[in-house]
Amino acid sequence: MFGGLRTINQLFEIPCHEYTPELQIRLLGIELSQLQEPILNIGAGKEGKLVRFLRENGCEAYGIDKFCETDGYMHRADWLSFSFEANTWGTVISHMAFSNHFRHHHLRRDGQPRQYAEKYMEILHSIKHAGSFYYAPGLPFIEDLLPAEQFAVRRTPVIPGKDDQSSWFGYPYAAQVTVYR
Ligand SMILES: C[S@@+](CC[C@H](N)C(=O)[O-])C[C@H]1O[C@@H](n2cnc3c(N)ncnc32)[C@H](O)[C@@H]1O
Repeated sequence: MFGGLRTINQLFEIPCHEYTPELQIRLLGIELSQLQEPILNIGAGKEGKLVRFLRENGCEAYGIDKFCETDGYMHRADWLSFSFEANTWGTVISHMAFSNHFRHHHLRRDGQPRQYAEKYMEILHSIKHAGSFYYAPGLPFIEDLLPAEQFAVRRTPVIPGKDDQSSWFGYPYAAQVTVYR
């Protein structure tokens, strides 16, 4: 029986899509006029569509991705080895990328949750005062540990109205973590 299932390739492929900039912006609850610069998109996609869109709208935006070509504003890099310099970015964005992998590593038995947790904190420290990290899916297991006097967490359910706070793992949401220090 399982031999039969194995022949269905889609069951074993990891879907990896680039989404439209409009969808990413809407889902993450981003107001373009509120974005602080410079902006870094982590796991921006091979095409860097959101980075291109932001630049076309007059924003100073850059992206990193494991599989993109390096050019003027896109840089091929692995987010676990990329150095997020302290106090550098006005906004960091990561849609269906860093936090999706962090969640995965948090849940799997042989994952690297510690490495992801350390990178997550490095990313937050790379953001300037009053800047934000926008990402989806949300990371309730680490957001709940952030000191409230330094970080404000806003959660927006992906499905409007579905915000049962008793079960953050039960439904998907986008997070905005704003840094105060
Ligand atoms: C589902 S796609 C999302 C792309 C884009 N953020 C979007 O929403 O359209 C995930 C992206 O993360 C990138 N990625 C996966 N692992 C990575 C890593 N370790 N370092 C950098 N990028 C990575 C993939 O190459 C892919 O472009």
